[in-house]
Amino acid sequence: MSNSERLYLYPVWIRLWHLTNAILCLVLIVTGLSIQFSNPSVVLQFKVAVAIHNIAGVLLTLSYVVFFLGNLFTVNGKYYIFEVKGFITRLMKQFRYYTIGIFRKETPPFPVTMEQKFNPLQQFSYVILMYVLVPLAILSGIGLLYPQITVNSLLGTSGLNLTDLLHITAGFLITVFLCIHIYFCTIGKTSVSNFKSMIDGYHESH
Ligand code: HEM
Repeated sequence: MSNSERLYLYPVWIRLWHLTNAILCLVLIVTGLSIQFSNPSVVLQFKVAVAIHNIAGVLLTLSYVVFFLGNLFTVNGKYYIFEVKGFITRLMKQFRYYTIGIFRKETPPFPVTMEQKFNPLQQFSYVILMYVLVPLAILSGIGLLYPQITVNSLLGTSGLNLTDLLHITAGFLITVFLCIHIYFCTIGKTSVSNFKSMIDGYHESH
């Protein structure tokens, strides 16, 4: 008999937002790379890649508004709030667990509960991602879509170039996050249980 505990941590709106967001991010990464490294012989034509990228960017902005308001008005938002005091120590504890403890089959220092859905590393990365990097990608994307609203020049460089730099940096960091995110999602009760939780809403603890 299994003594695992099932916690309903992912409400329908989070699962729908996450699925939409994941698909749109993948489309943006593929089309973004295609625009960056455009070459007449590649499968996706430059003009087509730009059109798809723009549409996906607008849809991602709408889906971000859903996430932002959802976290503002539902209990899910509390998981993104952390106490600054002692946070570095808690981060280090989780880091030690991922690099040493997990291989010694130690119990996780921050087990998942209804009060604490994320461990400190998840909390930190999700906050930076959702409240810094994604908004930065969106705002700089709007600046590139409507260049007339960007500043003409800043620190001797064209404002448009700086906006572009911010946009590709945010896009690059989100892509790096995604690779690490998917790897860490395999660390659960089984290697697929976290992925299942994003389908049925239930987190399975050890
Ligand atoms: C193929 C792509 C993706 C897969 C397979 C995936 C998988 C998952 C899984 C299994 C979870 C639940 C486990 C956990 O909370 O850590 C999760 C949560 C989360 N993912 Fe992803 N993810 C993907 C893409 C993304 C992208 C592109 C973003 C943001 C740009 C993102 C942001 C998040 C956030 C913020 C949560 C926590 C949501 C909450 O419960 O409040 N994910 N993801």
